Amino acid sequence: MSFDLSVIPHKNIILAVTGGIAAYKSAILVRRLKDAGFNVRVVMTEGAQAFITPLTFQALSGNPVHTQLLDPEAEAGMGHIELARWADLVLVAPASCDTLAKFAAGLADDLLSTLYLATKAPVWVAPAMNQQMWAAKATQRNLATLIEDGVHVIMPDAGSQACGDVGLGRMPEPEDIAHQVTQYFHKAQRAIAEKFGLLAGKKVTITAGPTREAIDPVRYISNHSTGKMGFALAAACYAAGADVTLIAGPVSLDTPNGVQRKNVSSAIQMLDQSLAQLDEGCDIFIATAAVADYRVAQVAEHKIKKAGDELNVALIKNPDIVATIAQQAKRPFMVGFAAETRNIEEYAAGKLVAKKLDMIACNDVSRADIGFASDENAMTVFFAEQYQLDKRDLEKASKQEIAQQLVEAMHDALHHTIQADDEL
Ligand code: C5P
Repeated sequence: MSFDLSVIPHKNIILAVTGGIAAYKSAILVRRLKDAGFNVRVVMTEGAQAFITPLTFQALSGNPVHTQLLDPEAEAGMGHIELARWADLVLVAPASCDTLAKFAAGLADDLLSTLYLATKAPVWVAPAMNQQMWAAKATQRNLATLIEDGVHVIMPDAGSQACGDVGLGRMPEPEDIAHQVTQYFHKAQRAIAEKFGLLAGKKVTITAGPTREAIDPVRYISNHSTGKMGFALAAACYAAGADVTLIAGPVSLDTPNGVQRKNVSSAIQMLDQSLAQLDEGCDIFIATAAVADYRVAQVAEHKIKKAGDELNVALIKNPDIVATIAQQAKRPFMVGFAAETRNIEEYAAGKLVAKKLDMIACNDVSRADIGFASDENAMTVFFAEQYQLDKRDLEKASKQEIAQQLVEAMHDALHHTIQADDEL
């Protein structure tokens, strides 16, 4: 399970396939782009259709394939100008010598060359050709023109070629190209989030997952926390423009894109790392971790041997991480979580005050359909009295959606404070 921000929704890519043996790789490229969440429409030149059929791309992209400039049927569906406007990126892969020459010369005698002139979207080309043709002066001259015109060139790889030659000219692997495209949109998205996101400019620290309290070198006490809520929050805070550090106990989740991760094991390590984070600057501290309440008083140096019918292990109380952070002089905006089986409101209000939190998100763990290991959650959010904000019921939704709503709640509370400060 991962909360991978590499999935970019609602972006449109025109994948233009031109004549070359590398066209077979473009079929996989469509898959990878779709996997990453893009809408893909394929344009094929006549040359491309000698290598692979439009039907393949239609099936993979889930959209009709565009091949003709002057096809009344296609124009009725989505004409070349509409297609040019639809695109957020035009990716030509493979880009043949002929296509590069047409682009450089500004010809408009087929669908792709016309589209190139008609689109405002960035154009990327992934040239693929015989190494001699790549090195040819005319090709290099055309490429230089295209670069000057603002086209982004995905450089070909070196290696053995379908024609038997060895050298530069192979189209990079589809995974590579899809990764570059994804990164491009990430950067663009991030730049917007850093300026306009709900948590733009904020430094956020999140604790997540369980802790492990050693008994001896091979055994420990822990709990069933999966870390999913904390990881979803890390992704949501990053998407909202924050700088995010995730202090994670032992969990098997991928680090969300853009998020700094510090792995810890015990509660003491989690506290040390949290205090270190505070020193580095922290505006919002979110405690989602299921910290073990107790640790073993005396961790055995060697594996404890089986002996007798009973074994007593003395436990001592762990520090309360969120409460400790809330007592520091440079106190960030503090967000806690609570899992309760009854009297939710009463217990949540109690923890809010006792741990000196600004906000607490509480879930009812008596419900079998949400909570700990589930992918969904439902919560009630309470704010500290000074915010004068009503409690919020977050209906059952995916942990990502809940995370997004929690980000909005934090933003509202912070905004409320700023407004209140301004009024003074
Ligand atoms: O007291 P309780 O465990 O219900 O409180 C839950 C909240 O306190 C969570 O936000 C949890 O991450 C945090 N907590 C902590 N350190 C502890 C125990 C709980 O930060 N030792």
